[in-house]
Amino acid sequence: MNILEFRSLFRKNLFSKFELNEIDFIYKNLLKSFFCFEPTVLGLNPKTNLNKTQQSKLNHALSLIKKDYPIQYITGTTKFHDIEILVNSNVLIPRPETEELVNWAIESIKDDYNIYDLCTGSGCIALALKKNNPSITLTGIDISKKAISVAKKNSQNLNLQVNWIIQDINKINTNKSSIDLIISNPPYVYPTERKNMHPRVLDYEPSIALFTPISDPIYYYRFCISFAKKSLRTGGKLFLEINPNYIDEIENLLMKSNFSNVILKRDFNGKKRMIRAEKYE
Ligand SMILES: C[S@@+](CC[C@H](N)C(=O)[O-])C[C@H]1O[C@@H](n2cnc3c(N)ncnc32)[C@H](O)[C@@H]1O
Repeated sequence: MNILEFRSLFRKNLFSKFELNEIDFIYKNLLKSFFCFEPTVLGLNPKTNLNKTQQSKLNHALSLIKKDYPIQYITGTTKFHDIEILVNSNVLIPRPETEELVNWAIESIKDDYNIYDLCTGSGCIALALKKNNPSITLTGIDISKKAISVAKKNSQNLNLQVNWIIQDINKINTNKSSIDLIISNPPYVYPTERKNMHPRVLDYEPSIALFTPISDPIYYYRFCISFAKKSLRTGGKLFLEINPNYIDEIENLLMKSNFSNVILKRDFNGKKRMIRAEKYE
């Protein structure tokens, strides 16, 4: 089979799940990632033959996509804030709204800042910040050893120095108030919201990266805020990606914890998705 015939096979098998342009995008992405074929090959050399090994690789990918397996886990990479991030099923696939959180934080970052990224996962936030300003010191923390191993690979590939720590944020301690900025996209899906989630997320992304305990929808924010209260310098800032359903609870907790200048920001879908607060004293 040639690459054009294989594209027809993808279109035929995936039309019920994706728009035509999405299928073509996925197919080109696979050709590029598996065989380094440029997207123009379909137009310029549509009769390029695929050997048996190439065909079986594409067939395997197609069978996974039909079962809703995320394309990013098949290719093993995704783009985040202009950097290429390695991902596997041990880490959340970075989301566009998190890029917006990064952009917002960048507006407050000055040279030589000391920054912590709590619940770092693939390390995407920490790495995007470090790439943007190499003078800053970054520490990324996650409870998952497997996630930190992905984050380490990412920092090696991108040649960006970050201190990676395997640690439960519930147990991090510091006796210094020396951090300039803390950022986090913690797990924030309340378990009853799972009915609204796509199988692509629910079945394949790590639940430890997604869900809060049933007993407490703002469980992870409590630890982020308490750590920020202890370890941010006066005037230091906390940036959090949030679940729009629990804004009041998070805002109240910030107020009670002596944070001021609390500002909410909407994402590209118009949802209140980020919050920024400043340590008051
Ligand atoms: C929503 S993901 C965010 C990953 C990445 N920062 C991003 O924005 O794509 C949440 C991360 O929190 C980590 N996590 C869950 N519970 C934790 C805990 N108690 N302490 C530290 N990290 C935790 C998970 O392993 C996961 O990597």
